[in-house]
Amino acid sequence: MWTCAKPYLAHLAGSVAHVSIAARAVKLCKTYGSGTATVVALDHVDFEVQAGEFTAIMGPSGSGKSTLMHLLAALDSPTSGQVFIGDQDVGTLKDTPLTELRRDRIGFVFQSFNLVPTLTARENIVLPLSIAGGKPDRVWFDQIVDLLGLRDRLTHKPSELSGGQQQRVACARALMNRPEIVFADEPTGNLDSGSAAEVLSFLRRSVDDFHQTIVMVTHDALAASYADRAVFLHDGRIIDECRGASQEEILQLMSRLYPRQAPPEHGKPLGDETNPFAPRTDPGNARHFAATSPARAMLDDRDTAEQPRLAVGEPAVFRDGAPQPAPNGIAPPETEAEISAPRRAITE
Ligand SMILES: Nc1ncnc2c1ncn2[C@@H]1O[C@H](COP(=O)(O)OP(=O)(O)OP(=O)(O)O)[C@@H](O)[C@H]1O
Ligand SMILES: [Mg+2]
Repeated sequence: MWTCAKPYLAHLAGSVAHVSIAARAVKLCKTYGSGTATVVALDHVDFEVQAGEFTAIMGPSGSGKSTLMHLLAALDSPTSGQVFIGDQDVGTLKDTPLTELRRDRIGFVFQSFNLVPTLTARENIVLPLSIAGGKPDRVWFDQIVDLLGLRDRLTHKPSELSGGQQQRVACARALMNRPEIVFADEPTGNLDSGSAAEVLSFLRRSVDDFHQTIVMVTHDALAASYADRAVFLHDGRIIDECRGASQEEILQLMSRLYPRQAPPEHGKPLGDETNPFAPRTDPGNARHFAATSPARAMLDDRDTAEQPRLAVGEPAVFRDGAPQPAPNGIAPPETEAEISAPRRAITE
């Protein structure tokens, strides 16, 4: 089992022993254009990302989600205000240390995968490390590749992979150098519901098992329900947040926060009758999923194992047939006794 050497949120018997901040925005402003054409994309946003947590950023189109994420990820600079990664004030960094910070401390997953088409999956996964002159940690590489079910796809180029497989490669690439924080902008936006669930489950597992810190922008209440915390933007401001919420609870909060956003187009809802932001690319997305929060279900699993996900002896597999290992490489339960026992203690 890989143990994170970086500071993280230590859950002990359900209580928070220590909280550290992975990223922070202080009075963050971003405007585009000038004069009457000025667009205020972010308006004095104060925001902290807790280390070891999965945070979702939600809001209607144009509310500033990507802008906030790009500023936090040091991909763009603010008009005013500050961004910290850990204790580092990003705005004080010159070009080279800024590049190193992005390369060494931050991982990225984009909606459009952004893999290098001429490289194999394996080469894409280790690319950031190769550029940095580092050598991949073989054990870690194997662990990530197996967790993502990519073992038999490593020699394939992106054009030979499905969208879900490409995004799993992008997830592996993001985690390969063990970044302090991973930013994902609509990582499931181009995926069908099954592939989306696989990517979201992996992101969830990387938080639970490796104490990865993740910030994910999403329109989708179901995707956000995988997160520990969802924050809601409107017109460049954070207007609310919730923790451990189910898909239904997030949808209810959204309809309260954005009452005028339900925009049936041509008299039809956008994919999901109850979700004003359901992605157009996969209209049925949210409907195929269970109603309860996967994040909460996983926590419940660990505490009580009341509702095992696997039938006895049934291996978990990705939809392309690759086996899905259990958390931390522990074999899936095979007997009733194993299933009824708590799957694992929360990793410290
Ligand atoms: N490069 C740019 N030039 C001008 N305006 C921009 C630019 N980038 C973003 N904006 C504007 O800033 C506001 C916030 O944009 P942003 O991309 O952060 O929204 P978003 O919440 O991510 O939306 P979506 O859900 O559609 O991706 C929008 O009004 C957008 O038009
Ligand atoms: Mg966006």
